[in-house]
Amino acid sequence: MSDLIDQIDKTKTPKHIAIIMDGNGRWAKQKGLDRSLGHKEGITALHKTLEAANEVGVKYVTVYTFSTENWNRPKEEVEALMNLVSYSVRLETPTLVSSGTRLECIGDLSRLPKAALESIEYCKRETAKGTAATLILALNYSSRWEITKAAQDLARKAANGEIRPEDIDADMFSQHLATANYPEPDLLIRTGGEQRISNYLLWQISYSELYFCDTYWPDFGRDDLFKAIIEYQNRERRFGKTSAQIQAEQV
Ligand code: FPP
Repeated sequence: MSDLIDQIDKTKTPKHIAIIMDGNGRWAKQKGLDRSLGHKEGITALHKTLEAANEVGVKYVTVYTFSTENWNRPKEEVEALMNLVSYSVRLETPTLVSSGTRLECIGDLSRLPKAALESIEYCKRETAKGTAATLILALNYSSRWEITKAAQDLARKAANGEIRPEDIDADMFSQHLATANYPEPDLLIRTGGEQRISNYLLWQISYSELYFCDTYWPDFGRDDLFKAIIEYQNRERRFGKTSAQIQAEQV
């Protein structure tokens, strides 16, 4: 049986993949289950996806775990999601350690329950030496929050005389975002059939390839990731240049 991995050019693996893990609720509803069980199954999907990403050498995976707007969901669902973060981050720590994956987070963590923060701190500590890959959880994250915060930080520095307003350029702005230490995503995957970005990494995906699939996140796995990577590799990334320029650069 052929394996999709054989169609992947390992020299052109996307370095950073960002994922919007959508469709957990619909997956659960379809099966007559509580929505929280969809999220729980989402952890298994994430586990499989990370394993597959490691197989092909993806260095960064950023997953939209909880948005600043998700606090508006029913109280029980918010609680279930926070409990899941506490429980599964701790449970997955040994796997992350053995695969050399470092855990990091972006977002305003100050509002997270203590148990979730403790699990995250534990996992970050245990995985800190991982050099194979980085898993970034976007938690209480949204682009508008992040961009507003960067603007405030820069305005403060300008007001203090640390920088001049005219010093602010795209690079400096990027350095004030939560993702300052990471390369921009090459590929953004959204599962669950919706085609929107939902306030996720808006600045960082300026030149990312966007990939939407109908699969609900709990059903997503190795083959689905490989299909997305194969499609990514078949696209021509032009970064504002012409196709002829890109082709000339490749010879
Ligand atoms: C969107 O599906 C999914 C979320 C809001 C949460 C995703 C979180 C997880 C998979 C758990 C992750 C935990 C860790 C520790 C990484 P939805 O609920 O909006 O689905 P629907 O559109 O079908 O209702």
